[in-house]
Amino acid sequence: MDSFELNKIAGGLLATLLFTMGIGIVADTLFKPKAPLVAGYALPAAEAAGSAAPAAAAAPAEPLPVRLAKGDAKKGEASAKACTACHAFEKGGANKVGPALYGILDKAKGGAAGFNYSAGIKERAAKGEKWDYESLDAFIANPKAYVAGTLMGYAGLADPAKRADMLVYLRSLSDNPAPLPAQ
Ligand code: HEC
Repeated sequence: MDSFELNKIAGGLLATLLFTMGIGIVADTLFKPKAPLVAGYALPAAEAAGSAAPAAAAAPAEPLPVRLAKGDAKKGEASAKACTACHAFEKGGANKVGPALYGILDKAKGGAAGFNYSAGIKERAAKGEKWDYESLDAFIANPKAYVAGTLMGYAGLADPAKRADMLVYLRSLSDNPAPLPAQ
């Protein structure tokens, strides 16, 4: 092999090397992953609306009248066991940690005699508000979101169907149960 031949081989090798490096550089610029500005994964955004609409904060629920029409008072009574730690449901029941709840539907907010309500409930009482289906649904879904600073130490019942069961049960706690809303 003369030196000319060797030069050709060396040249060929060099050219191949340069070509491979070139490809590498081009590929790098084409496919370089962009470093995220903030470390971590982007999680899908929460489905529901913000705190402005606590009633809808769980999952998008069916309209309340539709849920109420499907409501089951027996199931509601079972989940309302969690309330009896603080509330009496029977007629003439006394205030406990929370106010007595017999006949609560359509009753004035903050209306239990002798119970010292939070400022938030008193404010609503002063406006003459009553506990209709909508507001009970919202309060039970998330007490703290509905009444800021409420004294009610209950986390909330997120399941819209279970809340409907409970509302149908609460409605039954009356001498004269209010009609269910029209669908
Ligand atoms: C840990 C105790 C506790 C539990 C459990 C609890 N509550 Fe209460 N509840 C309270 C207190 C205390 C208040 C008074 C709230 C205030 O003044 O802010 C209240 C207020 C209420 C009111 C407003 C009554 C009125 O006279 O204006 C309703 C309605 C109510 N609770 C329903 C329920 C239901 C339904 C449940 C069960 C799903 C429940 N609560 C569970 C303590 C509790």
